[in-house]
Amino acid sequence: MVTVEELTTFCKKKGLVFANSEIYGGIAGFFDYGPIGVELKNNIKKEWWTYHVQQRQDVVGIDGSIIAHPTVWIASGHVNGFSDVLVSCTKCNERFRADVLIEDLLNISASSLTLSDINEFIRTKNLKCTKCKSPLGEASAFNLMFQTFVGPKQDKDAIAYLRPETAQLMFANFKLVAETARCKLPFGIAQIGKAFRNEISPRNFLFRMREFEQMEIEYFIHPDKHDECPFIKHVLEYELLILSSESQIKGTSATKMTIAAALENNIIQSPWHAYWLATEHNWFVKLGCNPEHIRVRQHVTEEKAHYAKDTWDLEYEFPFGWKELQGIADRSDYDLQQHIKNSGKDLSLYDEETKKKIVPHVVAEPSTGVDRAFLLFLCEAYLYSKERDYVVLRLHPALAPVKAAIFPLLSNKEELTKLAHKIYEDIREDFPAQYDTSGSVGRRYARADEIGIPYCITIDFDSITNKDVTIRDRDTASQIRVPIKQLQQRLCQLLKQEIAFEKAGVLVKKENNTQHNSDDPTSNTQN
Ligand code: GLY
Repeated sequence: MVTVEELTTFCKKKGLVFANSEIYGGIAGFFDYGPIGVELKNNIKKEWWTYHVQQRQDVVGIDGSIIAHPTVWIASGHVNGFSDVLVSCTKCNERFRADVLIEDLLNISASSLTLSDINEFIRTKNLKCTKCKSPLGEASAFNLMFQTFVGPKQDKDAIAYLRPETAQLMFANFKLVAETARCKLPFGIAQIGKAFRNEISPRNFLFRMREFEQMEIEYFIHPDKHDECPFIKHVLEYELLILSSESQIKGTSATKMTIAAALENNIIQSPWHAYWLATEHNWFVKLGCNPEHIRVRQHVTEEKAHYAKDTWDLEYEFPFGWKELQGIADRSDYDLQQHIKNSGKDLSLYDEETKKKIVPHVVAEPSTGVDRAFLLFLCEAYLYSKERDYVVLRLHPALAPVKAAIFPLLSNKEELTKLAHKIYEDIREDFPAQYDTSGSVGRRYARADEIGIPYCITIDFDSITNKDVTIRDRDTASQIRVPIKQLQQRLCQLLKQEIAFEKAGVLVKKENNTQHNSDDPTSNTQN
C-alpha cells in the first residue's frame, strides 16, 4: 500500500497539493490545492452535489457564511463542549493531543477516554514527553474553535468564530429553507463549505487539517416516523462490511451483511440510518472505491458526540489504518431545540395530518470531509506500474481532472499539429483536455497517466488520409482507431462508461497492461 509520505511527494510533484505558504516554511495543518488538485477537488464536490442534491427531490442546498452570530455556537454546544484533551510537557512545553499520544505510546484505542481517564493513564503508565522525555503536566480540555473579532472593537462583545462545521447553518436557516423551498418532511438540507478546527496535532497529510472543507446533509423527519423510511426497499440487498459496537466490545472483526440482515438482527436499529449508510457507501463505490476498503462502524457509548443518539462512521482503510471518513449521527431534535431555546424563535413546522406543530428530528447527518474524500480517491487510484515504471492514477473518469490528452505524433509537422489542434479545440468545448507536443509519445503517455487522464488521442499521418485517430486507454494501454467524425461522441460514451473500450472503435493494439493490478488483488479496474 502507498504510504502517506509517497502520496505527499507525488501530490507536490504533479501539482495536486502543496504545503501552504511553503516558501515561508509552511504552516501545520494547512494545504493549498494546485492546478490538477483543484480540478479533482471540484469534481468530487460536483459529484457529491449531483448525487445528493440535484438527483434527489427531497434535498435542497444552501451556502452559508463562514462566520455566524456567536450564539449559534453557544446553542450548538461548541463554545462549551467542542474540545480535545491537551497535555503539555513540564520542561520543553511541547503540546500533545492526549488521546493521540496515548494511542501512539500504548497502541490502544483512546478515543473514548474521558479527561480523568487520560490523567489516570498518564500517571499510572508514567507517560513522558516524546520530545525530551520529561514528565507531562495535568491534561485539560482545549477548545478547537478559531476565535476572531468582528468589527473594529476587539473586546469580548466582538468575539466570533470561524465555523467548526457547516451543519449549524442548516439548523439556523431551517425555517427559512423549509418555507421558501416548500419542503415537506422527510427532507434534507445540504451544504458544501469550509470549516476550521484548531487541531492540537494536525497529521496524516489531508486527513486532519486545521482548515478543511465539508459536504454535509441534515436530514429531517417527522418525530413520530422514525420507522418509516420510504427509500429502504431500494437498499435492502445492499451489502456493507459492518463492525457493530458489540463486535468491538467482544473483539471480533467486521462482517459482510446485507442491510436487510442488519435490520433483522437489530444491529442497525433505524431503517433511516441503514438507508443513509448504504447511500453514502454507494457514493464512494460508484466513484471507484473498492467496497472491501470501506466498513461501517458503530460508535461505542463513550465515544458518541454530545448530541447523538446513535452514530455510525464510514471508515476507510487509509495507509495509516482504518479511520473515519464520514460520521452519520442521529441527532434527534437536539439542534433545533437548542436554537429554539437560544433564539426564542419558533422553528417548528405545522403537521397537516395531526394539525399540530412539530419539531422535526434529524435522523442522519451524512457528513463527509472533501479533503478526506480526496485522499481516499487518491489512495484508490494511485498505482505504481512495474511495466510502465511510473505511477498511473486510475481515477474514475468523472473525477479525472483532465479527460483527454491530444498529441500530434510529430510536433514539427504542420499538417499534424494543425489537425491535432483543431481536434483539441473541438474536444475542449465538451470537457477539459490537454494538448501536448513535447517529447516522445511514450513520454506524453506517461505524463497523462500520472495525472489520471483516461484517454490519449494521437493524430498521425494516417489521420490525414483516413480521417481517423488512435485512442489509448489509460488503464490497459490498449488502443482503438476511431473516425474523427465520431470522436467526440465516443469519448463522451467512454467517459460515462456507457460503452466498453474495445467496442468504441477498431481495436489496433490489445494490451492487458493490468499486470500492475495483480500486485494488488483488492484493487479495482475502472474500464
Ligand atoms: N457536523 C458533523 C461534523 O462536523 O463532523
